[in-house]
Amino acid sequence: MSDMADPIYKTDALIAEDIDAYLEQHQHKSLLRFITCGSVDDGKSTLIGRLLYDSKMIFEDQLAALEADSKRVGTQGQEIDFALLVDGLAAEREQGITIDVAYRFFTTEKRKFIVADTPGHEQYTRNMVTGASTADLAVILIDARKGVLTQTRRHSYLAHLIGIRNIVLAVNKMDLVDYSQQVFDDIVADYTAFANSIGITSFVPMPISGFKGDNITANSPNTPWYTGKPLIEHLETVEVDVTADQDKPFRMAVQWVNRPNLDFRGFSGQIATGIVKAGDAIRVLPSGKTSTVSRIVTLDGDLDEAVAGQSVTLCFADEIDCSRGDVIAIADTPPEAANQFESTLVWMSDEALHVGRAYWMKLGTQMVSVTVQAPKYIVNVNTMEHLAAKTLDLNAIGVVELATDKPVVFEAYTQNRTLGGFILVDKITNNTVAAGMLHFSLRRAQNVHWQALDISRDAHANLKNQKPAVLWFTGLSGSGKSTIANLVEKKLHRMNRHTFLLDGDNVRHGLNKDLGFTEADRIENIRRVGEVAKLMADAGLIVITAFISPFRAEREMVRAMIPEGEFFEIFIDTPLAEAEKRDVKGLYKKARAGDLKNFTGIDSPYEAPEGPEIRIDTTKMDAEAAADAIIERLLGWH
Ligand code: ADX
Repeated sequence: MSDMADPIYKTDALIAEDIDAYLEQHQHKSLLRFITCGSVDDGKSTLIGRLLYDSKMIFEDQLAALEADSKRVGTQGQEIDFALLVDGLAAEREQGITIDVAYRFFTTEKRKFIVADTPGHEQYTRNMVTGASTADLAVILIDARKGVLTQTRRHSYLAHLIGIRNIVLAVNKMDLVDYSQQVFDDIVADYTAFANSIGITSFVPMPISGFKGDNITANSPNTPWYTGKPLIEHLETVEVDVTADQDKPFRMAVQWVNRPNLDFRGFSGQIATGIVKAGDAIRVLPSGKTSTVSRIVTLDGDLDEAVAGQSVTLCFADEIDCSRGDVIAIADTPPEAANQFESTLVWMSDEALHVGRAYWMKLGTQMVSVTVQAPKYIVNVNTMEHLAAKTLDLNAIGVVELATDKPVVFEAYTQNRTLGGFILVDKITNNTVAAGMLHFSLRRAQNVHWQALDISRDAHANLKNQKPAVLWFTGLSGSGKSTIANLVEKKLHRMNRHTFLLDGDNVRHGLNKDLGFTEADRIENIRRVGEVAKLMADAGLIVITAFISPFRAEREMVRAMIPEGEFFEIFIDTPLAEAEKRDVKGLYKKARAGDLKNFTGIDSPYEAPEGPEIRIDTTKMDAEAAADAIIERLLGWH
């Protein structure tokens, strides 16, 4: 047990005697990053407080934060009350809860530590994922009175999924079960069965009490039957597999291109796996271009070789194309590039996954647009059962297929955390909505290649003597989209323009007759119409579309598909009250009566454009004038 009377801020004698020697000693200590996880009230704060307290060392910023409230924690050099320290940490974390994970630093004679302190509630699974993504070890806490709970399983599963191979099963609050070996053994047996079922092959079980300090710094006399190491000693000595990454083939994602002058061109990044030596033959992906490494540059001068984890700048013998997002790899065993994958996703947003919607995918330094298919299944973390699901809700863990708009250089997550792990970001809000781990690429994507055709898009348009365009009308049902679009087409036709009008009601009788009005169906409706509009524009036509297209994300997706300057978003701005008053098709009346579900503006949202190319206020302008205004703007631009 620890000596509770020891002052927490005891100064290290070496600091006073020889500051250089002190710093030197601390610099060469290895660093262990770990995460504590488990359920609510399992004693995480107490345990972390205990680690900080017993390691008798709190880094400066930690100290400052605690000292800010001097009434509670006393001042440096004074004795600090353990319970108050724990209270302080818990309160601090509560405040930080919505932001992220609280990282705490401490050090012992042998090692430095960064512990990610994550909240236990289910709604904070995402914080756990964030904390775990950089951790080498996970301490899974269990309340000895409660045994293995849902959160224990969920967090163990996530820790394993994220690739943490060192797991400590800390059976806490042993003092409250009279240090019973039976209780401990039962919990370990229970956990072993679960661990095996998810592929955790080994873990280190420990009976502890964060509150009393049993088996934290020294073996406790209360558990003579426990022969393993105390927690801190285990954390100080556990081997973290730093060499495993070095044994893999060389890969480095390019963070930036370093070109201070014409004589120097280097590619900077952190080596993900393997070793690179001057003179090595390398390949740049996805282009596949090859060269040899001429120099390995660092701030401390050139190196002959560099290994996984180091940040370096590489220079090549040849002037080959290489930019941010590319991956430099050893030439003879390069990673694959693909645009369709199977992957696990951990959904971290309150807003459920929209199947078919485009999100940003950030994988290392690569950033591409990606769409997600309906989940193949989701995982019930209690039973490990695979369940059917249409989408992913907050905290769901599912297996999905993804399609990116450009090839992504990747490796399976189990091989390479850097090239296999990614996040999804909402394109409108910029929020991180999911964390993902790639399994493998789908062969079907690899074997379908884009066929180069001889008659180009320009050739099609030139023959028609016009520039292609997509006039994308959006607005509420009954706003006047179809009427105005129809007039625009008539007028353009009279001007000898080759046009084609795609109208919601009509397309829904044919191409999209399998789709209804749920969010997912509307997303798919617009995706298909976007693809058709793109093909028609490639054929040289002026395409006019009249769909409610209620979601910003899909309108932006179509915009991104069409060449710059050819997409015109036309917002037919009719207030809901006005559209409802007109009620040409009697649909608003039905919707208000509850006979028509998911009606736009009533019980399904409409997201008005924020920066449309053209906005038509139908309360100020009739259809004829609106059509003239649109054509004038189009011809002015075109
Ligand atoms: S969108 O939302 O997917 O873009 P789209 O423009 O294809 O919709 O179809 C809208 C037309 O379908 C409306 O003009 C209306 O005639 C009809 N409709 C039938 N049910 C609905 C509904 N629930 N919400 C909106 N429009 C509906």
